[in-house]
Amino acid sequence: MDSPIAISEDIYWIGVNDLETELFEAIWPLPQGVSYNSYIINDDKVVLIDTLKKTYLSQFVDKIKTVLKNGKTVDYLVVNHMEPDHSGAMKMLHEIFPEMQIIGNKKTVDFIKGFYDIDESQVKVVADGDTLELGKHTLQFFLTPMVHWPETMMTYDQRNKVLFSGDAFGGFGTLNGGIFDDEVDLNYFENEILRYFSNIVGKYSAMVQKALGRLKALDVSTIASTHGPIFRKDPSYIVDLYDRWSRQESERGVVIVYASMYGNTQVMAESIARALAKAGIDRIRLHNISRSHMSYVITDVWRFKGLILGSCTYNTKLFPPMEMLVRTLENDKLKGRVLGIFGSYSWSGGAVKELKTFAEQKDFNFIQPVVESKFAPSEEDIAQLRLLGKNVAEAL
Ligand code: FEO
Repeated sequence: MDSPIAISEDIYWIGVNDLETELFEAIWPLPQGVSYNSYIINDDKVVLIDTLKKTYLSQFVDKIKTVLKNGKTVDYLVVNHMEPDHSGAMKMLHEIFPEMQIIGNKKTVDFIKGFYDIDESQVKVVADGDTLELGKHTLQFFLTPMVHWPETMMTYDQRNKVLFSGDAFGGFGTLNGGIFDDEVDLNYFENEILRYFSNIVGKYSAMVQKALGRLKALDVSTIASTHGPIFRKDPSYIVDLYDRWSRQESERGVVIVYASMYGNTQVMAESIARALAKAGIDRIRLHNISRSHMSYVITDVWRFKGLILGSCTYNTKLFPPMEMLVRTLENDKLKGRVLGIFGSYSWSGGAVKELKTFAEQKDFNFIQPVVESKFAPSEEDIAQLRLLGKNVAEAL
């Protein structure tokens, strides 16, 4: 996409769209791509804020050179985050602009050395609250560890009140012409930002809360993250969403996720879904775990308060994709859900037992009955499943 695009006085977006990578971090689907947002501040000193995936280096350098005039060069590279979707171009950029000083915090140094073999003497280490004078602009650095990695930090331009927030507030999806919140379809981006949050950052919600608490004191006119739209019209929109999501505040609705080899567990899931609808729940998401990528399941799980998990038994255990989902939800520290479970088996149980262990060890409102069918669900099983749906609806 054309750029540089001015986002504020002296500050330009010089990011790129990636419509080639199929799986972000080699696991999360990118059907609508992703943008890697990088920014350049053209003051007396010239500063880059983060780079991008190394495959886009050539476009990136062209964009930088469009901004550089009158013999200027890049003086600083601020590294808010070292994941290679933002730092990948660093090593080659360092060779192109050898006088460019890299700015990071104490934890950044190890990553720079480890990933790119750049010596720590090349890195100017900043501490929380430190500032850097550029001329008209002053940058201030805020350490926000574990949003998303230990070295993550945010950079604030005191003059224009722009917050360069790293992964925080960013989402999947390329920027298709519009780059600002007032130029794009936010309904579309909201779900893609939640998908990014819930799959990539959600596990670190406590650290997100900590970071939000610290940023409260800042007067922010624009939030410029490393993925997705830039919020200049209403930054509070995305801050409020992040606040809710990181507190695991959910919406009224139910996600039913089921694993079914020959359709019997699916019949069970559909009986519950019908009971939920009859009880007045109109936001029901039904996922066959063998068809829905876990990325989308987790997005819905993070959004809605009700969660009902059902699994057939596979070799005396949970069906493998369901096993993966349950372990991921455990790792993501999901809590506060109204949870129901059900399942089936033919010659040996196992799946429901494992779901029960999951339900009992977490901070969930575990709703009864637990329904387990042998072979196909009986009429009595169906009645119990309807009761489970009704009870979950009442608990929301
Ligand atoms: Fe967009 Fe944690 O990298």
